[in-house]
Amino acid sequence: KKIHKIAVIPGDGIGKEVMPEGLRVLRAAAERFGIELQLTPIAWASCDYYQATGAMMPDDWKAQLQSQDAILFGAVGWPATVPDHVSLWGSLLKFRREFDQYINLRPVRLFEGVPCPLAGRKPGEIDYFVVRENTEGEYTKLGGIMYEGTEREIVIQESVYSRFGSDRVLKYAFELARSRERKHLTVATKSNGIAISMPWWDGRADAVGAAYPEVTVDKQHIDILSARFVLQPQGFDVVVASNLFGDILSDLGPATTGTIGLAPSANLNPERNFPSLFEPVHGSAPDIYGRNIANPVAMIWSAALMLDFLGHREAHDAIVTAIEQVLVEGPRTGDLGGQASTTEMGEAIAARLGAR
Ligand code: NAD
Ligand code: IPM
Ligand code: MN
Repeated sequence: KKIHKIAVIPGDGIGKEVMPEGLRVLRAAAERFGIELQLTPIAWASCDYYQATGAMMPDDWKAQLQSQDAILFGAVGWPATVPDHVSLWGSLLKFRREFDQYINLRPVRLFEGVPCPLAGRKPGEIDYFVVRENTEGEYTKLGGIMYEGTEREIVIQESVYSRFGSDRVLKYAFELARSRERKHLTVATKSNGIAISMPWWDGRADAVGAAYPEVTVDKQHIDILSARFVLQPQGFDVVVASNLFGDILSDLGPATTGTIGLAPSANLNPERNFPSLFEPVHGSAPDIYGRNIANPVAMIWSAALMLDFLGHREAHDAIVTAIEQVLVEGPRTGDLGGQASTTEMGEAIAARLGAR
């Protein structure tokens, strides 16, 4: 039987509080379904490590992680001590690039029992995927500052869209859309204002989409697309977006389902040449860290996505069912209108899987 090797990186802030609950539920599911896991806890890729060593990770980080089957990740960032671009480019963004995790798959779903901030919406009416390009686009270190410190200061920040990088994420999104009942794909664009890359991106969507006649496609400018996430969320099935647009949409979507504390993500290298990484959409939440009140569901659902990717669909489904039940019956954390602690909510979900 295969033993799955998992690197466990809690990171910073509430990453350190939700990870134990992710592991609690992961272990419960593994026990119930007879899945063998070898968990390797990793204390680096954190701002604490940076403070101690002057770097986010050891030099041999890649060798250490490359032998793993997957990475379970909490959150990184502690801007009070390390600038965010330093901590994130030194860890998470490096993983995404060096491990070619070019798909960032982010499900958005309104659950029974969770009050929806959009008037009158019921479960089933918000149920879509954001497929975010995860290795290029607007996230670059290309550019520079000229005449620095003068009134003529000029800042240039380049974006990068490759045909290879765009086609592969578009293809993934078309495949996902085709596998779903509604077979609908929304392509996020901004071809009216961003005059070079975005008309080109729309053209790549047409070219890739030619092979998917069953999939209906609409291209929407990111501004009105954002408005429709709020006003007509039932119109979305799969949404494909560039790195930055996908980042913004994947906080907005979950916000319309009550809280970003529920939203998971899968940073996938579909070819499995490198480990994929599973993490909540949310960050380290310094404003609530240390009180054990963070919602652990995003972390727990991310662990479920990992099990699915590792071939254990039944374990994934059981975890999602346990989450659904606890969202209806409680206990609930503060962002869900309850008073439970992170630990209590994690324990309740684990108990549904048969953990003692
Ligand atoms: P954030 O997601 O950490 O927090 C935004 C807001 O949502 C805060 O008010 C927070 O309390 C709340 N929140 C987040 N997760 C929650 C949870 N599980 N339960 C209840 N409430 C929750 O975003 P931010 O404040 O912009 O960033 C804080 C730090 O995290 C920064 O350093 C940022 O760069 C980093 N960050 C990291 C990741 C990541 O590692 N993937 C993602 C986003 C932000
Ligand atoms: C996310 C985060 C990251 C991103 C940050 C922390 C660099 O917001 O995973 O959504 O922008 O990709
Ligand atoms: Mn984000």
